Amino acid sequence: MDRELRHDVVILGAGLAGLRAAVEISRRMEGRVDIGIVSKVQLMRAHSVCAEGGTAAVLREDLGDSRELHAWDTVKGSDFLADQDVVQTFVDTIPKEIRQLDHWGIPWTRDDDGYISQRPFGGHSYPRATLAADKTGFFEMQTLYDQLQRYRTFTRYDELFVTDILVHDGSFAGLAGLDMGTGETVAIRGKALLVASGGGGTLYGFTTYSQTVTGDGMAMAYRAGLPLEDMEFLQFHPTGLVPSGILMTEACRGEGGYLKNNRGERFMAGYAPKLMELAPRDMVSRAETEEILAGRGFRTADGQDYLELDLTHLGADRINTRLPLIREVTIKFLGLDPIERPIPIRPVAHYSMGGIETDIDGRTRVPNIWAAGEAACVSLHGANRLGSNSTAECLVWGGITGREIVAALPGLAAAAPLPAAGTAAAEERVRQVLARQGDENLYELRRELRATMDADVGVFRSGDDLATALATIRQIRERARRAPVADKSRVYNSNLVHALELENLVDLAEVTVAGALAREESRGAHARRDFPTRDDERWLRHTLAFHAADGPRFEHKPVTVDMWKPVERTY
Ligand code: FUM
Repeated sequence: MDRELRHDVVILGAGLAGLRAAVEISRRMEGRVDIGIVSKVQLMRAHSVCAEGGTAAVLREDLGDSRELHAWDTVKGSDFLADQDVVQTFVDTIPKEIRQLDHWGIPWTRDDDGYISQRPFGGHSYPRATLAADKTGFFEMQTLYDQLQRYRTFTRYDELFVTDILVHDGSFAGLAGLDMGTGETVAIRGKALLVASGGGGTLYGFTTYSQTVTGDGMAMAYRAGLPLEDMEFLQFHPTGLVPSGILMTEACRGEGGYLKNNRGERFMAGYAPKLMELAPRDMVSRAETEEILAGRGFRTADGQDYLELDLTHLGADRINTRLPLIREVTIKFLGLDPIERPIPIRPVAHYSMGGIETDIDGRTRVPNIWAAGEAACVSLHGANRLGSNSTAECLVWGGITGREIVAALPGLAAAAPLPAAGTAAAEERVRQVLARQGDENLYELRRELRATMDADVGVFRSGDDLATALATIRQIRERARRAPVADKSRVYNSNLVHALELENLVDLAEVTVAGALAREESRGAHARRDFPTRDDERWLRHTLAFHAADGPRFEHKPVTVDMWKPVERTY
């Protein structure tokens, strides 16, 4: 390796969970710690800045909200696959996080009486999405980064693309990566690792994710021997802007927006008569898909189906104060002012409920590796996440993993020299990718992967479609070996990075689709046309995918059900 870095704690990923952990470690250690924050993007460009609508928390017990209600909404929303002890920890902790951010200076939106504003979100039985206009993630990130500046405990490594998590003798040994700016290979030694590198949503073409979100941390962990949990559960958000996929926040409906079909009907009346547009996302996305399939959608000139998100009745004042980003985006991208006209939308890939398996404290099976945020699966969201529970999860488990790492540090040995075989294998992998020859095109393969996921692994699934997708994904892996990296230079070789990202996406696609094929039931966001009902007898259990030479090997583990037994999920 060209360069070696050494830190007590290495945080991979600089989004909400990573920054929250860095602040927690720094303040608990009162500056006596040395953290390396490694990100493939500039630190404040992590995808968390794109989070819009809010962060769920119980703040108004005086007005009738309660943690028990938040827990119940989350468990029911998860289609009973969430671990209920995890949910309890979550609802107990997040109100403190909201107040902590307030003390740290976040500009929460305020009601006229000075209380922190909260708005309704889908599947929540009380308005508890805590907001900073419709730029909540941006302000949360800014506040955490601002706090971190108080400490001299961290070094940031922006634009450092990590290729491998190295495990030696069953424990965390370090990371191998590439400095994108110089092309140098970099070895990173540490006593403890937190993987907080986000989801993998650019598996899909129509997605709310930034193009940088390629599931690298999950894929590396998987190859390093850590199991991925519940990856078959992929969330489609009901309102992606057509044609770009940009998130039209659920807050549009929380503020009173309607969903309409080509007859001008609020079609949710036929699917979730009580909650209407604020039913959970899996249900609204299925309803939209059924409307389109029944011919009640609209179609763009180039053949894209959509429905309408109508905000026109909300009025200019509400849109300008509560949804300014939505207005800015629709005007910039479509020349459409939502004060005057409805917004074209359809279901869009938005969030991975699965991730690196952890226990309730964010600890993985490999000693000295923790995971938090979307990269992790602590089993909070089960088969379907409620909107606004994601930024909340990042804050809660960023804090918890930070605390746990501090507790563990005194017992951890000094960062050992990296295993030579591990770093050599990592370097060799990059060398082989650079040396590829053949007539395949990397970008065409990436497009084909996304088209396959869009077409065959969508809101509704079937065994036949999933089997077709799995075969295509495996062919893409083979074909990628014949896709040369045209750029051979070292400095900012984005071509090379895209080739490595494609490998990560292909691994995650394989786990997702093979898991979906194996799960012969419908639960939450996993809706099988050929197995249309939930089957608690066989499938009230988590999926664990382990890396193996010929594809994922699956095991299962029980769901913690210590408060509420599964019942039919109606809204
Ligand atoms: O619609 C939104 O603002 C997204 C929120 C979330 O995914 O939690």
